[in-house]
Amino acid sequence: MTESAPPILSAVELYKHFGGLVAVDHVSLEVRAGEVVGLLGDNGAGKSTLIKMIAGVYEPDGGRLLLNGRDASFSSPQEARDAGIETIYQDLALCENLDAGANIFLGREPVRPMLVVLRAVDRQRMLVESRRILDQLDIRIPGLARPIRQMSGGQRQAVAIARAVYWNAQLMIMDEPTAALGVPEQRKVLALVRTLRERGVGVIIISHNLQDVLDVADRVVVMRRGRAVGERQVADTNTSELLALMIGAERFEAA
Ligand SMILES: Nc1ncnc2c1ncn2[C@@H]1O[C@H](COP(=O)(O)OP(=O)(O)OP(=O)(O)O)[C@@H](O)[C@H]1O
Ligand SMILES: [Mg+2]
Repeated sequence: MTESAPPILSAVELYKHFGGLVAVDHVSLEVRAGEVVGLLGDNGAGKSTLIKMIAGVYEPDGGRLLLNGRDASFSSPQEARDAGIETIYQDLALCENLDAGANIFLGREPVRPMLVVLRAVDRQRMLVESRRILDQLDIRIPGLARPIRQMSGGQRQAVAIARAVYWNAQLMIMDEPTAALGVPEQRKVLALVRTLRERGVGVIIISHNLQDVLDVADRVVVMRRGRAVGERQVADTNTSELLALMIGAERFEAA
């Protein structure tokens, strides 16, 4: 990473309203290669709406997106994925009835060349490739061919992360990746975030667990009522300052 390289992502003054409710109010956000940015804020602050505009789920009502310094716009999540933005949503978007391999290749299934006409999906190759990438990430999933439905929350997160790595995501967005997990699984997911960082992937992580964010992020951005109200290097802040930003307590301190 050189100083002069543009950020992987620059979101500039993004704006989104739902009827009369302004969910995201001119929020800007940058993520560089190998940087983990924590996105914090109370319920309804606009975090998920912001990342959905970056991930092609919602079209912004205003503002711009730049990927590696170039204007970008996505009219679907698939377009964002094709551009290297992988997202794990709060309501995890894996297909419950498919196995890990099929999920990793979802929407981009390899087709056996001889059978192009029939568009036969190469299931064997998907499984082999999936096992390879999971091994690389040191993820052990017994019974990889089982449907995702039968896997634990942590295993599902791991499959989603494996998908991002396999497709060389430049930016990984994780909306509450540890919320539904047990403690060992949370640790694993946070360890995987560190692996992504080492590989030069940019990461945006949303979590209600401040400690998780402080453990894993380099920088945090705090949202309140649709606005970005603060940005700190993790090394320069602490839990009480961040909580105060999240709930707006500095207004009372000033009084
Ligand atoms: N599809 C939608 N239609 C209407 N209003 C919405 C929609 N999605 C979000 N909102 C509203 O926009 C605001 C921001 O919601 P958002 O989901 O972005 O918050 P959040 O910060 O992710 O909250 P949480 O931490 O609870 O997940 C909220 O007031 C919410 O009710
Ligand atoms: Mg949310």
